[in-house]
Amino acid sequence: MKKINFQKLNKIDQNLLKRAFEVMNNSYNPYSKFYVGAAVLGDGNKIFVGTNVENSAYGNTICAECSALTSARANGIKKVLKIAVIGKNSEKAVLDPISPCGSCRQMIFEASQVSEIDIEVIMSNTKMDKIIIAKISELLPLGFGPKNFKSK
Ligand code: THU
Repeated sequence: MKKINFQKLNKIDQNLLKRAFEVMNNSYNPYSKFYVGAAVLGDGNKIFVGTNVENSAYGNTICAECSALTSARANGIKKVLKIAVIGKNSEKAVLDPISPCGSCRQMIFEASQVSEIDIEVIMSNTKMDKIIIAKISELLPLGFGPKNFKSK
């Protein structure tokens, strides 16, 4: 796990985070007024984005990370390398990095076992001056995934 700012990120990570930032405004969030954007880096260096999409039946809400991961899969991505996430609160900046909820960690964990890559999660605050980079194994230690179904 490391703390970093936008200028110190490598170009690939800067680009991924920029894509997450750009789509953040497309968030559908009439209930929370919380904007989240996510961008997945898949094999072939392809990027897929997602935002949170809320619903009047609140529990049906889809998080930005989930939205980006499902879009990547639907577009043929078999391996996920990284995911960037950023957010803001009803047009105001949030000071701390957005950290994936438990359900999204599970989604990322599944993708990591399928990809056989310990996916890097780039979490940013709105101004990108406070960024945390962690592997999914750090965010969800001892997670349960498809590999855990296998018996000897
Ligand atoms: N949200 C995300 O999209 N990703 C996260 O990691 C945290 C929460 C969304 C869900 C909901 O629309 C809003 O943020 C407030 O919880």
